[in-house]
Amino acid sequence: MPFSIVLGDITQQAVDAIVNAANPTLLGGGGVDGCIHRAAGPELLAECRTLGGCRTGEAKLTKGYRLPANYVIHTVGPIWQGGGQGERQLLESCYRNALELAIGHNLESVAFPLISAGVYGYPKGEALKIAVSTIGGVLERFDLDVRLVLYRKEDFVPDRALTEGIERYLQRKEDFACAAYSVRMPRAAFCVPPDLNEIEKRIGKSFSEYLLAKIDEKGLSDVECYRRANVDRKLFSKIRSNPDYHPQKNTALAFAVALRLNYGETQELLRTAGYTLSDSSKSDLIVGYFIERGEFDIYRINEALFGFDQKLLGQA
Ligand code: APR
Repeated sequence: MPFSIVLGDITQQAVDAIVNAANPTLLGGGGVDGCIHRAAGPELLAECRTLGGCRTGEAKLTKGYRLPANYVIHTVGPIWQGGGQGERQLLESCYRNALELAIGHNLESVAFPLISAGVYGYPKGEALKIAVSTIGGVLERFDLDVRLVLYRKEDFVPDRALTEGIERYLQRKEDFACAAYSVRMPRAAFCVPPDLNEIEKRIGKSFSEYLLAKIDEKGLSDVECYRRANVDRKLFSKIRSNPDYHPQKNTALAFAVALRLNYGETQELLRTAGYTLSDSSKSDLIVGYFIERGEFDIYRINEALFGFDQKLLGQA
């Protein structure tokens, strides 16, 4: 999956490169810096000594030594001073420069910690938003696997307004379902009416055939579509070349988001793969929340899904 948020220890990530939230000396420290140096062994420090330090916002590459990762990309995040000292731009530079270094070395997978969100005091919610938006911006232009590794769930501080909006929506849906149950109304009465035109387009088509037809109808290129769906090129090629390809539900839904389908079109795309959006699935309700609002930023949707402990959209 080109971009994912995971809980874990970055020193255990088997990727081409892990990113270290270092300090300008590059001579180790506490936090994730300390974890990485302990796991990599003394050879890492010896190589870091040859680098002559690193300026805030910049990035330098070393080998990974005893780490499962082949390389370590050291970057220095800004110390939070209230937000008026260019902290945002410097933090964005950390992610951008680290990824440019990875791309320049033909690396295919990178794992980041939440830079500056620990000792350097960057507000975690803002640090998360900057990480997701900066990484997402690079992934619109390059094929790369990037994971944001959060050490503890409390490091994840989602957008409160978004979370509260979703919680209200889930509550309304639940109240609605209870009301329907109490007056014994068929659930179908509360579903969005099927789009007959879409049904006609879907009949007799496989998931792959219907998807490719929708990509043409929406005027998207293949690359635009799979990158917006948080799916990598290899998987998309498989879908394109195999009319009988059967996707996981989170992948089918990811393409509905990428194509900016409305609720009815989304149901039809899902039906070609034998799925349907269900009001009894929290994950489906959360995606439905975004579709009903016409919000199709898959990284923001995945941030919300992660916050509600649901499977992310994109690759299986
Ligand atoms: N794996 C993933 N994330 C981790 C790990 C780990 N093993 N250990 C800590 N983290 C998380 C923290 O919970 C925090 O969310 O990394 C994020 C960044 O925290 P810090 O490591 O404190 O980094 P930062 O805030 O950028 O401060 C850098 O701290 O360790 C020193 O030498 C470092 O001076 C530099 C400063």
